[in-house]
Amino acid sequence: MIIVLRPHASKEQIDQVLHEVEVLGYTPAPIHGATQTVIAAIGDERTHANLESLTAFPQVESVLRVQKRYKLASRESHPADTVINVDGVEVGGGKFGLMAGPCSVESEEQLMKTAHAVKAAGATILRGGAYKPRTSPYEFQGLGKEGLRLLALARKETGLKIITEVLSERDVEHVAETADILQIGARNAQNYQLLIEAAKSGKAVLLKRGMSERIEEWLLAAEYLLAHGNPNVFLCERGIRTFETYTRNTLDLAAVAIAKKESHLPVVIDPSQGCGRADLVISLCIGAVAMGADGLLIEVHPNPAEALSDGQQQVDFAGFQKLVASIQPFLQAVNKSAA
Ligand code: E4P
Ligand code: PEP
Repeated sequence: MIIVLRPHASKEQIDQVLHEVEVLGYTPAPIHGATQTVIAAIGDERTHANLESLTAFPQVESVLRVQKRYKLASRESHPADTVINVDGVEVGGGKFGLMAGPCSVESEEQLMKTAHAVKAAGATILRGGAYKPRTSPYEFQGLGKEGLRLLALARKETGLKIITEVLSERDVEHVAETADILQIGARNAQNYQLLIEAAKSGKAVLLKRGMSERIEEWLLAAEYLLAHGNPNVFLCERGIRTFETYTRNTLDLAAVAIAKKESHLPVVIDPSQGCGRADLVISLCIGAVAMGADGLLIEVHPNPAEALSDGQQQVDFAGFQKLVASIQPFLQAVNKSAA
């Protein structure tokens, strides 16, 4: 870190800061200018104390970070793309992951029909919420354990891998018995105790970006998973809250490019939550593939008009087939193949 002292700080004031920098575990290297002194504090900022507290001294003007706050998630620590192997299905690097299925698991018939349809169109991972984070307590909350049983049945029948959301720490163990990938939703994106438990499950984790989460906070949330021993982390951009009303959320494609640059972790896009409109999903998928995303998480329903959650943003089977066909030329252009 760099500590900038105020002009004309006295020798005693400079020595006081040099001493404190040492107490906090860094080696201080002062640079004395004509009127101002700057101190380089040498040490790993990510594991040593944060020196911003030194601004409590009146002689300290500012403290600047040099290193990023995330370490394990950064490309600096791991230059090559991470490829996650989900029980035989690889995602990351040149392998594109197509995850699709209903917003909510509603019934055996609905799930099985959807699982067969998305598999036939090319998906390798089936999504479906058994526990639903609903805004209103009066709206469909998911089938819970019965939903997990149906997801396990769908995997048995189709061979598709399963991604499903876990809402609370107390559910991690039993959701992980069914899930191949645990989904941490936007509403829990910074629930650190849940992240730690999910990391310990040993299952791959797809971490959504929170609705008002900065990219740095998102990467630091991923850092929790990595720091607790789970290297299999997908970052998922699903749109953020903005002033725009034509879409439910604003899909932040710049975040995809930034996450790919900053981190080695595979980046997945959820265009369904990202805009909340089925008619825009294909365009956003094409954009996401062109931007370098490593996978898509798409909501598909046999009859979206009758869906128990988020019908407005789910595509039907024909829509999903069209979507998969539409992204093919773009996948080829970026040298990726669907896993
Ligand atoms: C569905 O996946 C979520 O539970 C849903 O988007 C939450 O939104 P709502 O409850 O406000 O409809
Ligand atoms: C979901 O994918 O089912 C979901 C609830 O998404 P998000 O957390 O992005 O709102």
